[in-house]
Amino acid sequence: MSKKIILTGDRPTGPLHLGHYVGSLKARVELQNEYDTYILIADMQALTDNSNDPEKIRKNVLEVALDYLSVGINPKISTIAIQSEIPALSEITMYFLNLVTLARLERNPTVKSEMKQKGFGNNVPAGFLMYPISQAADITAFKADLVPVGEDQLPMIEQTAEIVRRFNKTYKPVLVEPKALISKFPRLPGIEGKSKMSKSLGNAIYLSDSAIVVAKKVMAMYTDPKHIHIENPGKVEGNVVFTYLDAFDPDTKAVETFKRRYRAGGLGDVVIKTRLINVLEKFLRPIREQRAKFEKKPKEVMKILNQGTEKAKIITSKTLKEIKKAMQLDYF
Ligand code: TRP
Repeated sequence: MSKKIILTGDRPTGPLHLGHYVGSLKARVELQNEYDTYILIADMQALTDNSNDPEKIRKNVLEVALDYLSVGINPKISTIAIQSEIPALSEITMYFLNLVTLARLERNPTVKSEMKQKGFGNNVPAGFLMYPISQAADITAFKADLVPVGEDQLPMIEQTAEIVRRFNKTYKPVLVEPKALISKFPRLPGIEGKSKMSKSLGNAIYLSDSAIVVAKKVMAMYTDPKHIHIENPGKVEGNVVFTYLDAFDPDTKAVETFKRRYRAGGLGDVVIKTRLINVLEKFLRPIREQRAKFEKKPKEVMKILNQGTEKAKIITSKTLKEIKKAMQLDYF
């Protein structure tokens, strides 16, 4: 019996952070033995809102690959590939474009909020508006069953499922309807506690941050603004330090005790922040060490990407062929 298939990806617009880890990387590492795993470095998608900065995308392809390898994505069992090097993805996108209306794209909540955040105004790049279709091509080209992503990506998977149903009904049932795998901690807030952790908002702790930088960021974290004196009762809900302890501290009993003491009053922010710094250090140190090993061998990393991409090309061109056949575009 063949294994079920996972496809996921990231835009190479910056290094990956703790939010990526909790939202998706962790699941990928855990599931890579059980599923046939494909991971796309989505450079074409990154260009949809960075067309004027190719250098940034180019540089971050390697950064993101290093992040994957350092958290334990094993290139011997998982396939890492570069999106723009896989022509079938662009071709499939072209065919899918006819199966989605402009109004439907404009309704996509993730695209909507990103458009606002990026301040495109009346100058939305066409490529940006239609990137959910390109993402649907990514997912279906690999016939993915499961897509481990952060919660913000749910609308993309929904839109992909719609395209699959539409395609299979209109032509022939060749595509697989994917399911999203959303993690238990769907949205890790940024250190300021206002919005989710994000490269563009400058509120992220990166997997590649040094110990000193991590400590500084934790010390600046939002806690409870009304918890001014140590004796004051403090709020745990919305307190970023506790959110992170919930996500990263393996000793859940100890965290519960800290919460109780914090709520009762008498526990200072520095104590819980120091605990979090230690917890994050324990988690990040081995990742940093792995990263350092691969950083010394960029050629080897590029070889991993090259081999992964070649494998991805074969698989996706097979799907493309089936798609074209179903659409009666099989002339010769
Ligand atoms: N949209 C994803 C992000 O912003 C990246 C991505 C591209 C992706 N193609 C994908 C995710 C396919 C899952 C499946 O990070």
